[in-house]
Amino acid sequence: MLPTIAWSKNKVVMIDQRKLPWQEAYVECRNYDQVAEAIKKMVIRGAPAIGVAAAFGVALGILKVKKKQDLRKEFRKIVLRLEKTRPTARNLFWAVEKMRKALRKAENLDLSELKERLVEEALAIEKKDIETNRKIGFFGKKLIRNKDSILTHCNAGELATAGYGTALGIIRAAYEEGKKIQIYVDETRPFLQGARLTCWELSRLRIPFILITDNMAGWLMQKKEISVVITGADRIARNGDTANKIGTYSLAVLANENKIPFYVAAPLSTIDFDFAQGNEIPIEERAAQEVREINGRCFTLPKVKVRNPAFDVTPARFISAIITEKGIARPPYRISLKAISKK
Ligand code: MRU
Repeated sequence: MLPTIAWSKNKVVMIDQRKLPWQEAYVECRNYDQVAEAIKKMVIRGAPAIGVAAAFGVALGILKVKKKQDLRKEFRKIVLRLEKTRPTARNLFWAVEKMRKALRKAENLDLSELKERLVEEALAIEKKDIETNRKIGFFGKKLIRNKDSILTHCNAGELATAGYGTALGIIRAAYEEGKKIQIYVDETRPFLQGARLTCWELSRLRIPFILITDNMAGWLMQKKEISVVITGADRIARNGDTANKIGTYSLAVLANENKIPFYVAAPLSTIDFDFAQGNEIPIEERAAQEVREINGRCFTLPKVKVRNPAFDVTPARFISAIITEKGIARPPYRISLKAISKK
């Protein structure tokens, strides 16, 4: 299994996703501030993995508290720092909330027991994420037909989660079952999660794939070389509108135009029932240099003006199904997502 993130002797170790596939380097975080920096700089990325990192960050922060009377103040400081890193990833806020509840429940314990409880809670969030992804794979593989040709965008695999992956978990499960499938990987500009990370994962798993640039997808759909699209999600509003990596919306429109099913795979922790629709979801804007440079080398005019929204929102009407760990939700999502979350 890939070591996306691990808790080791009161430290958090992450594979540095900025350096893949060229280099397998690891970053060690000894305090919550280093975890926050790692999330912000995308050492670790992908909504569920960010959630796990945030939980570990809270645990690291609490471990450093010296007096019990400082707990609440310290917790607020830690959370404020972590929540400022990546505003779109719902799982970050979800994981912090889980840690807040664990803290409240443990508040009567003595400080050292309380610290142990919070580490246990973070480790449980990590473990549960892997189980959740396997369940998503179990349900999702039923939607994949033999000889399907599947396009995926960004990276929604082991590296984006605690393990196994969501959209890639489905691909994995279908492949392990013996289905003959062809995978197309979108390169996913500007951060190249597809070209760098998904290709790296698929080649390690020995699942055959073809890399394409983002602007080739429409043509391949028209030529019937793509029969299904599956992506992950960063935040899903209660009506099913889905924020995911920039470029997802274009794929969904193209898939609909070409009558190809467009599936979203995500744990229930990605669904934000506080948001009625997608236009309420905060969309992160990242640094201009990510658009101007590849691997630290500028390939345009150095000061050219750019935009860099990291995510877009796909309206629910373009989504054929949302695959969760509790089953497959179909439109209308306002009803099906609520029902599935109560199972
Ligand atoms: O900017 P990133 O790399 O964190 O964006 C990741 C995505 O958009 C993924 O598709 C999403 O988080 C789901 S990962 C299982």
